[in-house]
Amino acid sequence: MRPSTDQDKAKWASGTAAIETYVRDGMKLGLGSGTTSHWFVRALGEAVAQGLDVVGVPTSTGTRDLALEVGVPLTTLADVQRLDLTVDGADEIDHDGNMIKGGGACLLWERIVADASDRMVAVVDDSKVVDTLGTFPLPIEVIPFSWESTQRSIARLLQRLGYSEPDLRLRTANGEVVVTDSGNHIIDAHLQKIDDPLALDAQLNWIPGVVENGLFTGIADEMVIGYPSGKHEVR
Ligand code: 5RP
Repeated sequence: MRPSTDQDKAKWASGTAAIETYVRDGMKLGLGSGTTSHWFVRALGEAVAQGLDVVGVPTSTGTRDLALEVGVPLTTLADVQRLDLTVDGADEIDHDGNMIKGGGACLLWERIVADASDRMVAVVDDSKVVDTLGTFPLPIEVIPFSWESTQRSIARLLQRLGYSEPDLRLRTANGEVVVTDSGNHIIDAHLQKIDDPLALDAQLNWIPGVVENGLFTGIADEMVIGYPSGKHEVR
């Protein structure tokens, strides 16, 4: 499989560069979700076929299926206590490495796997790097029980902070409610500009019914930025 669009080429450049830059024999790896991470997983499969000895923990059922297809050996966090490195994408990343994640609704497993890792590297195309987080809607994962009430609590917090009403995420294809790999729903918050990501992260996660939100602050150690030319930059 080869990248087709310019953005896809930039994602490919980032995902594949992460292999030679960071991955070493014997590593236990967190395998991110989304299209950029999937270029990483495909390249990892090729490296494994050539003898690289690694094992991975996937951050979604989609990544698990791809890893199995391309021959990356898998394990779980029940069997290994710590991971050496997680490589995962982002919907937005600022210059300090704070991210919005969860565009693909995988934020909960992504955060757990990143938390179990000694190092986290974000793989992004150049369009993801922003001065201030917030243009991309912030995903908030909520349990299905009384999600309407949880959404109202989130809306009250956001209103106090001067933001607009959040929305329940529906599938664009058929209008059905999105269900995450853990059986939860996603509420998307339209914030435009997040001045204090760390504070908002804590405020959101305090709300009963909220399982996790997509603000990943202080988690990424480095980022690999891919460009449509096929070049990449490590920061
Ligand atoms: C999924 C994620 C992805 O990492 C994020 O959406 C980026 O995806 P892509 O690489 O396809 O742009 O957080 O929950």
